[in-house]
Amino acid sequence: MKFFIDTANLEQIKEAQALGILDGVTTNPSLMAKEGINGETNVKQHYVDICNIVDGDVSAEVIATDFEGMVKEGEALAALHEQIVVKIPMIKDGVKALKYFSDKGIKTNCTLVFSAGQALLAAKAGATYVSPFIGRLDDVSTDGLNLISEIRLIYDNYNFETEILAASVRHTMHVIDCAKIGADVMTGPLSSITGLLNHPLTDIGLAKFLEDHKKNA
Ligand code: E4P
Repeated sequence: MKFFIDTANLEQIKEAQALGILDGVTTNPSLMAKEGINGETNVKQHYVDICNIVDGDVSAEVIATDFEGMVKEGEALAALHEQIVVKIPMIKDGVKALKYFSDKGIKTNCTLVFSAGQALLAAKAGATYVSPFIGRLDDVSTDGLNLISEIRLIYDNYNFETEILAASVRHTMHVIDCAKIGADVMTGPLSSITGLLNHPLTDIGLAKFLEDHKKNA
């Protein structure tokens, strides 16, 4: 399972990269705004900065919602760096744009996916990644993990190559459950990754080992 971090914060990306287990980064317009990154030039430079930190795919989202606009923006984003993956919303023109980029060999991430039908369309259009938002489904009392299971079944039935990128991951149990189901990738905050480290028995055991070692010193 690949681990992506879902942030535009360079320090957090550096911290995850330094762990040695980071496979990529996802961003979205809200995450960019949270870091105070605005204006086309600054946004583009920020994507390049992220690419220079991480060794893997970096999703950069288009703002346009019409086919021509998405193609123009997506091509400009893809030209920024070889690690850029063009992030396209799951709307009608978005499906057309996914097919366009797929035919051109440009990687895509289909975002804002909330149903198995949408995921099927994204795969048919040749998306590199499909991003079902599990946390946001949980927020409205709908089982986000069940959607991951449904998409896994459908993709396996037809050997679709689109990778399931479990998005809107909120905590460590989401990560573990997605791994059990067989999501190809998860993207979440740094805490959902570093939280996997924690176990009180590890801390207690290590303290005891160090204490016993001192006795023999
Ligand atoms: C995915 O690519 C999105 O950036 C993200 O996972 C959204 O997560 P949120 O629901 O925590 O905003």
